[in-house]
Amino acid sequence: MQKKYVNKVFIIEDDAIYGKILQRKLEQEDDTYEVQVFPTGHAFFDHLHENPDIVSIDYNLPDMNGLEILKRIKQYNEDIATVILSGQEKVDVVVEAYDNGAANYIMKNQDALPALARVVRNLSSNVNLRKEVEELREQILDRNKYDMIVGESKGILKVIRMIQKVEKSNILVLITGESGTGKEVIANAIHYNSPRRRKPFVAVNVAAIPADLIESELFGHEKGAFTGATGRRIGKFEEANGGTIFLDEIGEMELGLQTKLLRVLQESKITRLGSNKEIQLDMRVLAATNKNLGERVKQGLFREDLYYRLQGFLIPLPPLRDREHDIIILAKHFLKAFCDQNRMPLKTFDKGALKTMLRHPWPGNVRELKALVERAALIADTDHITEDDLIFSDAV
Ligand SMILES: Nc1ncnc2c1ncn2[C@@H]1O[C@H](COP(=O)(O)OP(=O)(O)OP(=O)(O)O)[C@@H](O)[C@H]1O
Ligand SMILES: [Mg+2]
Repeated sequence: MQKKYVNKVFIIEDDAIYGKILQRKLEQEDDTYEVQVFPTGHAFFDHLHENPDIVSIDYNLPDMNGLEILKRIKQYNEDIATVILSGQEKVDVVVEAYDNGAANYIMKNQDALPALARVVRNLSSNVNLRKEVEELREQILDRNKYDMIVGESKGILKVIRMIQKVEKSNILVLITGESGTGKEVIANAIHYNSPRRRKPFVAVNVAAIPADLIESELFGHEKGAFTGATGRRIGKFEEANGGTIFLDEIGEMELGLQTKLLRVLQESKITRLGSNKEIQLDMRVLAATNKNLGERVKQGLFREDLYYRLQGFLIPLPPLRDREHDIIILAKHFLKAFCDQNRMPLKTFDKGALKTMLRHPWPGNVRELKALVERAALIADTDHITEDDLIFSDAV
């Protein structure tokens, strides 16, 4: 089945009634046509930037001649398909139209309506094919841009498509997923495919920093801001200026700090502890959590307004057990990387080992898989890693 896209069809026709008839005929023919009629060449050129897919041109117009319009369209964009609709039967006019890139030439007689419908259908089919090829080509190119994200499963490809949607903008993105699913890998991919790629990517694990230090860690402080603040310190937000800050485990942030974060998200301004000077920053914020934030709102542990703000664009990362297709791909990838790094001859998994890995539920997700593979590479006595070399840790 060929893919259907919306096709913009522009009709240039000075006879308003005839224009309406053509429009209706095409609209009845196929509801993926978006048809617009223009009474003059000038009216049409005012809308050429909307990039029609197909243009039907009346040969005799009050302000311009059909051939002239044809030439200008082709100069603007060769891919726009054009049809001349004309009462003019002179052979040299017809030949000139084809010479100038017209896809078809239709006589204005009693068969003109079905003829136009047929021609537009064929052109639309070509246009759709071209669009599909372009789309596929883009997908192939794009996959290479994300080679830090290993995997071919539907789940991971969907995540990559979501990254594509937001990487060029400054939208706040929340990445959710169980521990070890690769949330930081995704945050990295967004940053390194964004216009900010040459500026810093600063990751802060909110859960790993003691509560009494986190505020100064994020906002920085002036000398003497609190006992022990012996000098000025630049915070993570300022470090990320021009680039991206990644707030990992944002669900663990305590309420007071959430209020301050909300202000940063709204105004992109920070104030160092012990200072009253506001500093304007230009940074993109990405966040991640493996907690159910909605639950935490209900428990009164997470601010509702911050929660809604974070719901702007969600990228949920599926757990590894739902990406079966990726288990082996990732395992081989980690094995090769580990053998290369440690200058070991490349090892391989035997069938039993592969089966065992496919059956495992991976509560620790990709992180667990990576650790398992590296352990196995060390344990295996030969170049073949067997089931016996796979030592699953039960602590997760
Ligand atoms: N798709 C992937 N391709 C390559 N490596 C991956 C992929 N997903 C995860 N990893 C690797 O797995 C490990 C865990 O990933 P990461 O730290 O991004 O997980 P996380 O979701 O942030 O975990 P946590 O919730 O514990 O913070 C890292 O070593 C990372 O490089
Ligand atoms: Mg993480």
